[in-house]
Amino acid sequence: MDKRRKLVIDCDPGHDDIMAIMNALAHPELFEILGYTTVCGNNYVDKVTSNLCKVLTAIGVDGTVAVGYDAPMVLAPDPQPAAHGESGLDGPVLPEAKVRPVAEHAVEFLHDVCSQAAAKGEKITIVALAPLTNIALFLKTWPELAGAIEEITLMGGSRGKGNILPRAEFNLYADPHAAKLVFASGVPIVMSDIEICVECGTEHALIDGLKGQGKVQDLAHDILQFFSQYGRRRGLSYSPVFDLVPVMHMMHPELFTEKKCRVLIETEGAYTRGMTIVEEAKEEAEANVTLVEHCVDNEAYNRYFMENLKVLDEMVKEKR
Ligand code: RIB
Ligand code: CA
Repeated sequence: MDKRRKLVIDCDPGHDDIMAIMNALAHPELFEILGYTTVCGNNYVDKVTSNLCKVLTAIGVDGTVAVGYDAPMVLAPDPQPAAHGESGLDGPVLPEAKVRPVAEHAVEFLHDVCSQAAAKGEKITIVALAPLTNIALFLKTWPELAGAIEEITLMGGSRGKGNILPRAEFNLYADPHAAKLVFASGVPIVMSDIEICVECGTEHALIDGLKGQGKVQDLAHDILQFFSQYGRRRGLSYSPVFDLVPVMHMMHPELFTEKKCRVLIETEGAYTRGMTIVEEAKEEAEANVTLVEHCVDNEAYNRYFMENLKVLDEMVKEKR
């Protein structure tokens, strides 16, 4: 029996989204990537979809890409050129895309993979690296398929920090109404928040060392050079690569501690839009989230990160 986890990666590439995807692609013995769904987040959906298709083309891998919503459920889109550049993935020089999105909408794609999984008595995992619009509207439309989702492992939220508002993280800020719906859905949620992503931060010296090591590592270098500018300008020696954390947590749970929590989402606050209120659950039954709490070995985490890029380089070399 195929024991690999079946993944749908919901994303808005996005520099750190691409690092998560590269790391998952490096381990086909662990993960079967059923497809990618894209959504408006760091930039509009046409831009982030084009970025994903160009990166898959550059690496030389194929994949099913289904385009999702181009706006949050209620609020207006809020692109982030300061973090990701005008294209949503500034930095690397990318080829024209040969990988093309399918005609099916992202939520229809989720419907199909969940229906097929349910029919076979299997479950899928959603890796959510962007605002939760696609996932919320899928669950709202077909709540009967929620049981086909083993878990949603997501990057989002915080225990107090903020990266878009003083107390709010971007993915949940961008579509707080979608987040509220997903967090109340009863589907098991694994949450990697800002705090754990900072604990897993990658030293800039490791990023610099990727140059000249191979096609994938060169691309990762150019992507991460751009993404780490913010930290470098502020004199930091490391940068968080946010979206990588949920993927690394699936690969190496031994590197993390976890805590069952009750998480609420603020949708209305003028200063707190998308803020997460995270409380340790007193009883298991009141928890709606497994919080990825601490990283116990940053050095091992980043060693695996660098090794996975090398592994993917070897894999794509062999394919040629
Ligand atoms: O807050 C970090 C999140 O927002 C990540 O998903 C990153 O890609 C950014 O757009
Ligand atoms: Ca993202």
